[in-house]
Amino acid sequence: MASKNILIVPGDGIGQEVTAVGKKVLDKIAARFNHTFHYDEALIGHVAIEATGNPLPEESLEKMKKSDAVLFGAVGHPKYDNDPSAKVRPEQGLLKMRKELGLYANLRPIKLFDELLEASSIKPEILKGADILFFRELTGDIYFGEKGRKNNGDTAYDIAEYSRYEVERIGRKAFEAARTRRKKLCSVDKANVIETSRLWREVIQKLAPEYPDVEVEHMFVDAAAMILIKDPRRFDVVVTANLFGDILTDEASQIAGSMGMLASASVGDGTGVYEPIHGSAHDITGKGVANPLASILSAALLLDISFGMKAESEAVISAVDKVLKAGFRTRDIADANTPADKILGTEAIGNEVLKFL
Ligand code: IPM
Ligand code: MG
Repeated sequence: MASKNILIVPGDGIGQEVTAVGKKVLDKIAARFNHTFHYDEALIGHVAIEATGNPLPEESLEKMKKSDAVLFGAVGHPKYDNDPSAKVRPEQGLLKMRKELGLYANLRPIKLFDELLEASSIKPEILKGADILFFRELTGDIYFGEKGRKNNGDTAYDIAEYSRYEVERIGRKAFEAARTRRKKLCSVDKANVIETSRLWREVIQKLAPEYPDVEVEHMFVDAAAMILIKDPRRFDVVVTANLFGDILTDEASQIAGSMGMLASASVGDGTGVYEPIHGSAHDITGKGVANPLASILSAALLLDISFGMKAESEAVISAVDKVLKAGFRTRDIADANTPADKILGTEAIGNEVLKFL
């Protein structure tokens, strides 16, 4: 029996709809396992800009630092995507949160629920049994280096930077995770061209002798992008830099059937943040059709990683599995054989998960 403070940070677009369902699942877990979860909410992204002019208001950051864990939705708004000159952008809130909370490790587990074999655009015989855990570095790289314009704005630059300790701390996390799995680590870089990648490879190579039970492989990012689709079972744990990880995990979401299924955990020295890897999806916002399963699975990661509640976390994952086994789908994971009455909206599929809890 535990008492915890959970901060819900829905952000923009479907973030609102999916975190509402994730919260209900946490509530149900608290009731079933006799825990007390206290909730508060905070603003980030476009909604925060509208309310305060700031994509991450100080008040939100303070609440995050004080809470035991954050259930996060998404940030973004199409109006900024088509306005490259905008100085204040929703994504700045997300990046600032990652930096300020020291969330340097982003864990993105890619696992296909058997029932979704047909939902992927990849052939079932290639996918079956694929199970990958990505460690994406989250507070360095080209995302956070100096950027700007010169030559009267006609030239733009973004500097990619990594320090030894930054590679080492994420490297250790990945090695340790590999130990608890199939003991294979693939480090992805572009060391044939990029200097930060050469440092990356050097650091991972230096760590390797400390983990003699883990088999290490180094792969260039272009090859990794290809093999991920050709032979995903070849990977166990993958560790990579911020930008490569951003791109490869969107690609890998197709292994899990849909972006709507993938949860992630961002952890570091303080409060952990749990969020779907999908974005704000304004094209379907407010229609009640968004897939909340990634937010529910993010809640499962939160229970496991931040609270050490293994049984609770497994109960959530097993409930999602049962809902899929019962044939229920949201639109994004339905296929030609899904009967119309099994295709549910955001709230309705959330309620099915609650029933199994
Ligand atoms: C993600 C997103 C973010 C990123 C965007 C919204 C800034 O794509 O979490 O993967 O690039 O990290
Ligand atoms: Mg991304």
